[in-house]
Parts: sequence; structure tokens; C-alpha cells
Amino acid sequence: MPTIPIIRTVAELRAVLAERRRAGERIGFVPTMGALHAGHGSLVTAARREHQCVVASIFVNPLQFGPNEDLASYPRTPERDLALLAEHGCALLFMPEVAEMYSAGSVTRLHQTGLTDVLCGRSRPGHFDGVLTVVLKLLLQVQPDTAFFGRKDFQQALVIRRMVRDLDVPVSIATCPIHREADGLAMSSRNRYLSAEERAVAPELFAALRGVNDGFLRGERRAATLVELGRVALARGSRWGIDYLEVCDPETLEERGAEARAGDLVAVAAKLGPARLIDNLLLGENVPA
Ligand code: PAF
Repeated sequence: MPTIPIIRTVAELRAVLAERRRAGERIGFVPTMGALHAGHGSLVTAARREHQCVVASIFVNPLQFGPNEDLASYPRTPERDLALLAEHGCALLFMPEVAEMYSAGSVTRLHQTGLTDVLCGRSRPGHFDGVLTVVLKLLLQVQPDTAFFGRKDFQQALVIRRMVRDLDVPVSIATCPIHREADGLAMSSRNRYLSAEERAVAPELFAALRGVNDGFLRGERRAATLVELGRVALARGSRWGIDYLEVCDPETLEERGAEARAGDLVAVAAKLGPARLIDNLLLGENVPA
């Protein structure tokens, strides 16, 4: 079975990557929290296209979990992760302990306003402070040419892009398409929380988004009516606890008050059993049936 080196310290990471850079290699970076799936594999594949050295990180970042969230139970599958990364041609894995990332007494945190006040930021206070803090640290540690993120976490990718722009971080941010199971469910590490019964109804989330998109394609432009289409579809199953379902501006994430436009983001977060799932599409987008 192919395998790759695991690096545990920032000092070693810097030394190894300095060598790669001296050899003229471009560095692509795929930050993750582990429990990897084919979606992560596709990020590594995308990174390999233009980078001779692809680095992945696995770090379950305590800062981005709220007090009642799933930090302790977050799935950890290091052996399978390593195999998946190796199969996709990742060159090395950075897998630090918490103490390596946050030394005792670490008190500096990154905070962004605006984009982080809505959608997931509204229901997960402090979440994006944690994401931004760890992503900036990882970017400073790896210093990649490009960092790759999945579009399932649409808001996360947008917030990170803004941070990079605001702080002049010398990196390109690539956002890659959502990877879906054959039945439409967006791949997520948290899908592992679903029981067989819950897994069977989970594709309803994407079906609800498709319903909104179909409404738009039929000519419906009232944002509230489109949202209602999605909510009604999810209420039919009566298993879902909807956190939000919104049509918003894809750049500012402001909720559309009146009229929806092609390219608007339809974003949903909902609980199904123990799992909080998120998904999104862009209105008018060609989505799988
Ligand atoms: O999307 C994730 O897996 C995490 O939020 C990230 C970007 C690795 C930061 O911990």
C-alpha cells in the first residue's frame, strides 16, 4: 500500500518544504480535519495539476467547535486517511498535536465581521474565528502557492478568501466543486454520524435545493417563495430540523429580500439525527438530477 511521510512539528514542516521550494517545486495545500472522503481526494487531485508538491494537513481544530458541538466525537480515521492521500499523490501529511498548534498561553485569535455574521456564523458563534485562526496559522506554516477548499463549505471559502485579501496573505485560494454520492448527498465527514435509516433520507437535503432551483428555472423569482419551496420539501420528511435555508447574494451573503437572480446562493443547514448537514447550489446551475 502506498504511504507518505507524516510530519508532526512546524519546524520539520518548514525545513522539508524549504528544500522542495529550493528544488523549484510549487506547493499546493489541502487543509482538512481528517475522516477523509472522495471529496478530499478530488482536492488533492486538483492541487496536483499545477503543483509538484501537494501537502495535506489533518488537524481537528478545537477552536472552531462550540461548547455543545462534536469535537470529542469528530470521526478520526488516520490510517484510511493516509491511504487515501497516498493514492491521490499527496507528497506529505502535516498532522500536528493540539499543543504544537496552540502553545500554552496562546491568546491571539482572528475575527472577521460581516460575512461571518450570517448563515453558519449566526448559529455557530465563534466558529469562523476558530477557522480563520487555524487557516492563517496553517498558511503561514506551509506557505503554499495555492490552498484548496471545497465548495460545500461555501461560506468558509468566502470568509477565507476575504481574510487572505484583507491581510495580504501571499496565496491563491482555489474553491473546488462539491463532491456528491450517487444519490446526491454532498460528501461530508459528518455523514458518518447517520444511522442507516437517516442515511436513506439524507439525500432529501439536496433534493430540496434542487426543488428551489427547479422553481427558479420555471420562472419563479420571488426569493421568499423559492425558500418556501425548499422548506416545504424538507418538512414533508418531518425528520429535519432546519437551521437555515436562504437565498443570498453569493459575494456578500446578504439575504435576498425580494427578487432572486441567476447565480444567487441557495444555502441550507439542517439537523438529521446527530448530524448537522450543510449544502448549497447556485440558482440556475446545472445540477445532477
Ligand atoms: O473545512 C475544514 O475541514 C476545516 O474547517 C479547515 C478548513 C481544515 C480548518 O480547520
